Amino acid sequence: MNKIVKVESPGRINLIGEHVDYNGGSVLPGAIDKKVEFIIENIKGSKCFIDSETINKKFEFELSSLEKSNQHWQNYILGTINNIINKRNLKISAFSCKINSSLPIGAGISSSSALISGLAAGLIEINNLQIKKSEIVDIVSDVEHNYIGLKGGIMDQFTILHGQKNKLVHLECHSRNFKYVNAEFNDYQIILLNTNVEHNLANTAYNDRVEECRYALDIINNKYSNKFSYLCEVDSTILESFKVNLDAKVFNRASFVINENLRTYEAAKKLNEFKLVEIGNLMYQSHAGLKDLYEVSCNELDFLVDLTKPYDQIIGSRMMGGGFGGCTINLIHKKFKDEFLDIAHKSYFEKFRIDVTPIEISISDGVKIKNLQTG
Ligand code: GLA
Repeated sequence: MNKIVKVESPGRINLIGEHVDYNGGSVLPGAIDKKVEFIIENIKGSKCFIDSETINKKFEFELSSLEKSNQHWQNYILGTINNIINKRNLKISAFSCKINSSLPIGAGISSSSALISGLAAGLIEINNLQIKKSEIVDIVSDVEHNYIGLKGGIMDQFTILHGQKNKLVHLECHSRNFKYVNAEFNDYQIILLNTNVEHNLANTAYNDRVEECRYALDIINNKYSNKFSYLCEVDSTILESFKVNLDAKVFNRASFVINENLRTYEAAKKLNEFKLVEIGNLMYQSHAGLKDLYEVSCNELDFLVDLTKPYDQIIGSRMMGGGFGGCTINLIHKKFKDEFLDIAHKSYFEKFRIDVTPIEISISDGVKIKNLQTG
């Protein structure tokens, strides 16, 4: 009998700590109840069959031919399998896979990492491979870097694999040490507002930021005999002393990164102390930095964040994820939610002629695998 597994792989939110993961900083994300689901079945032969019900597309391929495809979405799958077989030297059997997702694509809640992480975890399980979660994080990162072309950090994959119900993951990306923090917001709830825009060249602009940070680190390290492994290790007074040596743009990028990392530690502390208003202030500061110093926001995101500012019933708001579109994350009083969503919908439509989509989430467990049939 063939083996069959069902995999549920969630998206993620990030309360604060944006664009710091690839700079060795700390982040405060959580897995969510919206997810990609897979049914994977081991089959005979060497041909694999993929059927995505979400985008209504199918494709098949041989395990021995995993070259990049000109169909972008297929590369998420081909890259994952190529990595397991050719980079890790592991054997997997042919399989068929049905994919179904409730994660909006391009909303900045990590549908692509959920896809790759879930597939990797499912294939590892069904083939009885002994691979730890931290190694899956590396597999997924590698696929994103080399097959998809996004030189991202580890926040998304790590959260998708380690998430826990009602907990945020305070992860230090340089060491991968992490602590769970209660995601307890009392009368407030996290609501995402999807701008439904995804500006062109987001990947290129993202990779440019990675380069600019690396450049800032190199300049600082030149004077400090390579003391720092990551930009987040540099303290603000050292950075200040480079104000004249660094191009203003690069200085701003570094300044944002270093301060965003400090804000994340502060927010994790405030969450433990249940000081929600302070967390909200940190979220607004984060947005201001992402907009003015890191320059990864856009008019649609700024508009939605500004819209929340007059209301005491909203504690905090900021853009979330890579930027250039996607969602804002908001902490809104439960009783004010409906009224505000109405306001947001009307004002956003009036301004951009686009519908904003609210996404209500709860913080949930990371990847779950269930054996439906053992071979
Ligand atoms: C994307 C990347 C992450 C992270 C965020 C920004 O989601 O995949 O690694 O860098 O952007 O915080």
